Amino acid sequence: MTTVININREILSPEEANISVFDHGFLFGDSVYEVLITCHGIPFKIKEHLQRMSVSAEEIGLKLPYTYEEFFREINRTIAAGNNRESYIRIVVTRGVGEINIDPSSCLKPNTIIYISEFSGYSEGLYKDGINLVIVSTRRNIKESINPGIKTGNYLNNVLAIMEAKKRGATDGLMLNAEGYLTESTTSNFYLVKDRVIMTPSLECGILGGITRGIVLELARENGIHVEERMIRPEEIREADEAFITSTTRGIMPVTICDDSKVGDGRPGGLTKKLIGLYKNKLEDMISGDL
Ligand code: PDD
Repeated sequence: MTTVININREILSPEEANISVFDHGFLFGDSVYEVLITCHGIPFKIKEHLQRMSVSAEEIGLKLPYTYEEFFREINRTIAAGNNRESYIRIVVTRGVGEINIDPSSCLKPNTIIYISEFSGYSEGLYKDGINLVIVSTRRNIKESINPGIKTGNYLNNVLAIMEAKKRGATDGLMLNAEGYLTESTTSNFYLVKDRVIMTPSLECGILGGITRGIVLELARENGIHVEERMIRPEEIREADEAFITSTTRGIMPVTICDDSKVGDGRPGGLTKKLIGLYKNKLEDMISGDL
């Protein structure tokens, strides 16, 4: 298991990898990031992740220092140096070093950091039994403050949410928006299933447009499963048959308990399991070049 870090095109060990204490990413969470994984050694949906990072960077007025081709090259070079069976990839682009005040005009050069470590996924038990979520009191940022649709390094909102969830004995937290509608979990998107219809908060609710969310909704529609993207009230969880979350590192993970009550019969649902199978096949398609 090897972790290697690429800082501005230099591949380093974790011990050698250092970033200045004057970097505004560190001082103010002024950065953007992406998380992806490899599948058979190939970064999965890399184009989509880079596109999302471009949008995030543009939204915070940060010019990405590499072209897509340069990101491809640096990511692949770092994966090769890590030499893991499968890799976890985190790309962070910070505002860079500047004066100690929030004005970013003194930051002249963004820092680009690519972390590579072994990816072994979550334990099988979480997929077999499902996870336990609680609705936390920390609300998701409103779009007009730090838009949840952009993936910045400013995750304090989500940090507070998972701290609260853990304190209450849950695996993770489920956040509401300012109007009290469901949004997402701290690092994953959320879904309910009722009468074989998948329901998930729409992008307008203030969520990250997950890459996995995009794949799962497309897979569902291709397979004749009805999907509703809309505003969802938290009370609808009690009426739901199934629930699940999605993210790059988790894929599709069943949610079987919410706020100390069983979701449906308290076991991973049939449609969730069907989607997990379809998603696995999709990843396997990568071998045949269908990225
Ligand atoms: N998290 N919502 C939030 C707030 C997230 O941070 C993430 C991703 C997702 C799911 O997006 P995707 O399907 O593109 O991974 C939803 C990554 C995995 C992380 O921060 O570790």
